Amino acid sequence: MRTMAIANQKGGSGKTTTSVNLAAALGEQERRVLLLDLDPQHSTTAWMGLKNPGKGLFELFTNQTPLAHLVQQTGVPGVDLAPSSAWLMGAERFLAGEVGAEQILRRSVAELPADGWHYLLIDCPPTLGILTINALAAVRELLVPVEAHVLALAGLAQLLHTVEVVRERLNPDLRVTGILACRMDGRTRHAREVVEQLREHSGDLVYQTVIRENIRLAECPSFAQPITRYDPKSTGAADYRRLAREIIAQEP
Ligand SMILES: Nc1ncnc2c1ncn2[C@@H]1O[C@H](COP(=O)(O)OP(=O)(O)OP(=O)(O)O)[C@@H](O)[C@H]1O
Ligand SMILES: [Mg+2]
Repeated sequence: MRTMAIANQKGGSGKTTTSVNLAAALGEQERRVLLLDLDPQHSTTAWMGLKNPGKGLFELFTNQTPLAHLVQQTGVPGVDLAPSSAWLMGAERFLAGEVGAEQILRRSVAELPADGWHYLLIDCPPTLGILTINALAAVRELLVPVEAHVLALAGLAQLLHTVEVVRERLNPDLRVTGILACRMDGRTRHAREVVEQLREHSGDLVYQTVIRENIRLAECPSFAQPITRYDPKSTGAADYRRLAREIIAQEP
């Protein structure tokens, strides 16, 4: 199973949009995906339209409920979800004083059945707190969405520093496998310059795929559908399918 956290402590950088639509696009390519919503804002869980999400991952962090017991089927082919809820906010406080709290998710992921899913994708909250550290400790790969129409590079340095610390102390296998430029407005020179700067700075780490600004991507959460179903012919659907192909091409 490939394990990937989708993280950036900057709010609104495209984490949730990328988590849901990449999962759906991988599902279209016959990959089974476990999507894990680690954000107390539970945007991914709301987007997937679960009837009874319950307390979700709160149970994992506070009651040691096995991850596999929390997984629910979704209406999206190939995609299962471990839901979040507002309760997770409480987990953040609860975990602050716990010994070994950074490793809880890592141990849970290690206990998942080996043949269950091809991909584990984790939608992280916009902080570098204990929940995001749990995600970074639990995965081998990190995908960083950056918003292309603001200067996002300063925040990126801070995130990469955290990755270094996690690699040294918790998870030597962690590496950044891709930086994804999101919300690219091809009409403005500024957006193109940000992507060029990213490429100069981080070279091969930047995905060839760029996610263009597309209003359809902003609409589809209200319809509880991924872009591949909500508007399969949109540029948003095309971009996330291209990203899925690029990620599949990296499979060992
Ligand atoms: N390519 C795009 N085109 C148009 N709108 C987009 C695009 N990507 C994201 N958005 C919109 O931008 C906003 C932020 O995106 P998203 O929720 O995916 O970011 P996030 O990083 O998960 O945010 P948070 O940090 O709050 O969790 C949302 O309203 C989303 O619909
Ligand atoms: Mg989000």
